[in-house]
Amino acid sequence: MDNIKTLKFNIVDSTNSVAMQRKEKSHLLTVIADAQTNGRGRMGRGFYSYNGGLYMSVILDPEYVKIPLHIITPAAALAVRNTLVEYGVKGAKIKWVNDIYLENKKICGILTEAKTEDNKIERIVVGIGINLFFENAEFPDYLKEKADFVKVVADKDTVAKTVVKKLGNYLNKTQKVIADEYGKDLLYIGESVEVSDYSENKKISAKVLGINEDCFLKIELADGTTKLLSSGEII
Ligand code: BTN
Repeated sequence: MDNIKTLKFNIVDSTNSVAMQRKEKSHLLTVIADAQTNGRGRMGRGFYSYNGGLYMSVILDPEYVKIPLHIITPAAALAVRNTLVEYGVKGAKIKWVNDIYLENKKICGILTEAKTEDNKIERIVVGIGINLFFENAEFPDYLKEKADFVKVVADKDTVAKTVVKKLGNYLNKTQKVIADEYGKDLLYIGESVEVSDYSENKKISAKVLGINEDCFLKIELADGTTKLLSSGEII
């Protein structure tokens, strides 16, 4: 894994922002920080970034990305989940579309962003925040029920580089291979849940059926009809 290049910081505003602003053209160069003052999540939310977590942003050169943009987050989720399992977190599961959970609590979030110039994607940044266990770290009260720390049997650098290596490997696979693996082991399949449908800006009760080849969520509504969600969240 010595060919994986990292840029390490103690504290930054957001590793995604730093990765977006880097001048060099690169593929798989990764910005890593121990803490963030302005960690960003999906839908304009923040990502709580205590000192001692793993906050990393992988820069991708679109030239080397053969899968569609919307498959990158599922690929990153698989890379993180498989890394955590490899380092001892046996029950880590993917929650559609971009979270990793352990025993019903979030241990990782992923935010993929793209920068365009003249209508062309010039850079993709895959931001990954893993709530690695750190002595005396605590979540604020509003997160204690929802988020947890995770202990791994590897140092932070090894975890980060393994994630990057696995992500790089997924980017060379086909959409079908990624979607098949992603759909196999998702949380809440067959269960009744509340879903936030971002396309219609509403919450719905539904049963999770699985995903399709685009990693969109297949749900069954109360009237028996099925629906595909391209963007949203299981609440
Ligand atoms: C989410 O849960 O909505 C996604 C959270 C993504 C957080 C990571 S931490 C590293 C990178 N830098 C950021 O500002 N966000 C991502």
